[in-house]
Amino acid sequence: MRNEETLPGRPESGSGCPVAPAYPFPFDHPLRPPTEWARLREPGCPIPEVTVRASGDTVRVLTRYEDVRTALSDERRFDRDLSIGGAARLTADETGGPFAIPDRSGPLSSGAAHQRWRRLVNRHFTAKRMTALQPRIREIAHSLVDDMESGPHPADLASAFAFPLPVQVIGALLGAPAEHWDRFSYWSQLLFSLDRYSAEEIRTGHDDFTAYMRELVTRLREKPGDDLLSELATTSGTDEGMPEDELVLTGKLLLAAGHETTSAMIGKITAILLEDRTRWERLKDDRSLLPTAIEELLRYDVNRGVGLPRYLNEDVDLDGRTIPARTTVVTVLPAANRDETVFPAADRLDFTRSPNPHLAFGAGPHSCLGQSLARTELRVAFETLFDRLPDLRLAIPAEELQHRQGQITGSLREIPVMW
Ligand code: HEM
Repeated sequence: MRNEETLPGRPESGSGCPVAPAYPFPFDHPLRPPTEWARLREPGCPIPEVTVRASGDTVRVLTRYEDVRTALSDERRFDRDLSIGGAARLTADETGGPFAIPDRSGPLSSGAAHQRWRRLVNRHFTAKRMTALQPRIREIAHSLVDDMESGPHPADLASAFAFPLPVQVIGALLGAPAEHWDRFSYWSQLLFSLDRYSAEEIRTGHDDFTAYMRELVTRLREKPGDDLLSELATTSGTDEGMPEDELVLTGKLLLAAGHETTSAMIGKITAILLEDRTRWERLKDDRSLLPTAIEELLRYDVNRGVGLPRYLNEDVDLDGRTIPARTTVVTVLPAANRDETVFPAADRLDFTRSPNPHLAFGAGPHSCLGQSLARTELRVAFETLFDRLPDLRLAIPAEELQHRQGQITGSLREIPVMW
């Protein structure tokens, strides 16, 4: 058994476990995992302490499926609130970045109040609503492709399709006027910023966003539509509803959470499919594969974001090691999704893989609330691209694709495509 003292992030000669001392680990290829992930999942390898590049603080990195699942499922010992004194900062400024924004504490944060909030919101994410939303998603997707076809060629699929689609969908779901969708896009990028925006910009953006949501909620309460926010607004303040402040926060959270992640995923999945066009052709020609293929693509994504951090309230045993209280751990979901003990031949993309218990949507009490919507959006997005742009291909080699810097979610900055 190795001595814990020798472990922290320092290369160990003669072992299969050495890791880069700074986190996030470097990637050699935009669509492949860093070598560190596989090394750290090896039996007997430590859960190392590494230094966060942006802040110089220390975190421990969880890469094994079971460890990541345990951390996400147990919010009592693995606290989600990083505004607690002593938690590591993932960003350079003193706020601790988006993981420590005030909105993350309170009823949306943890425990019984959070469960109640989740039930209230979940009630409105019905299968009926998702089905009803599909024609609207398709309409939005088709109109974006219309614009692509009449625009410059090669086009940037990220800005022409992957980014605008989810923001317009979430805008429609929430009942926000279409002319405001551009602002939503800015605010959600701000909320998911690590160091792309300054602390001042983030604070101002938060205030503007809150003021906007408050006005929208008031407007929808007076003149409700058939959208989700109208439904929540009309019950707000009653026993079955949520207080006004919570509702405003919910609007902000749904908008931001529903946009960045889905946009990033549409872009990265397109790149994975086009890197080897036989993948694209196979899925285009056999749509019956889409449901399992989408799960597999969610698993296969390497998401270059920083991972989900948690703060330990007490000593915790993980994989036979004690991680002391007051440690900040970072769970690397895509690393867990490549764990061979759960996913045989994990580096192979298998469109028929089943079962596929990937963690792309998290796990436990905070697992993604919008996953049914995300799956619907992904399916409609790719059906539309297959139908309208069947000859789509990358205009540059996949290895030249660049990731957007300074955001929590990993996303490709530009995806130049031709057809
Ligand atoms: C492919 C797209 C998406 C991915 C990969 C994704 C991923 C995730 C993950 C990993 C979490 C867990 C966060 C944590 O444990 O701290 C989460 C939470 C959440 N997601 Fe998503 N998400 C996606 C799309 C969406 C959409 C479309 C919506 C809403 C319309 C949404 C709303 C939420 C909300 C509200 C939470 C917080 C749940 C809670 O704290 O109880 N997400 N998502």
